[in-house]
Amino acid sequence: MAIRKIAQIGHPILRERAREITAEEIEGAEMQQLVDDLVETMHDANGAGLAAPQIYASVRMVAIHVDKNPRYPHKPPIPLTILVNPVVTPLDGEMFDNYEGCLSVPNLRGLVPRYAHVKVTGWDRHGAEWSREAHGFTAGTFQHELDHLDGAVFLDRVKDPRSLTTWDQYDKFYKESFVERAHVLVAKYGG
Ligand code: NI
Repeated sequence: MAIRKIAQIGHPILRERAREITAEEIEGAEMQQLVDDLVETMHDANGAGLAAPQIYASVRMVAIHVDKNPRYPHKPPIPLTILVNPVVTPLDGEMFDNYEGCLSVPNLRGLVPRYAHVKVTGWDRHGAEWSREAHGFTAGTFQHELDHLDGAVFLDRVKDPRSLTTWDQYDKFYKESFVERAHVLVAKYGG
């Protein structure tokens, strides 16, 4: 296992559409190494999720893990999940505003509208079919990570650029009200 460098906004790899992973290659040493490195890099950076293009591998793979995350203390837990060739489908049109940040966008957060109810399908790290429904913040986390596979970052989806804030200023001016709203969202949507 190895901690890899995280690509920063401006690097073209973050703007490419990542390619599908084939059934033949998923069990191979290279892809299994990529899974391990993605997880280790995500954990090292305290990320709630990390997409393969963020560690310079332009393939459709994401890791997600939320467990008392210091970057996002309001998020309900998500067990460690590896998704290969994932697809997200909104279950209805309901949206909510999520204050997002990204390991590839240093020191910036902004309000992003996300679908509140989605279905996520894909493969696990061994190529077995995987699917679940996700709601609220958990749905938002899946949408954020899957965007990376299509060359999108949260900044592209910020509705009002005036919501952009450094992490320091977020703590000062927005955290209290957002965390209050987050409790309401978690009560409404669960994980
Ligand atoms: Ni991100």
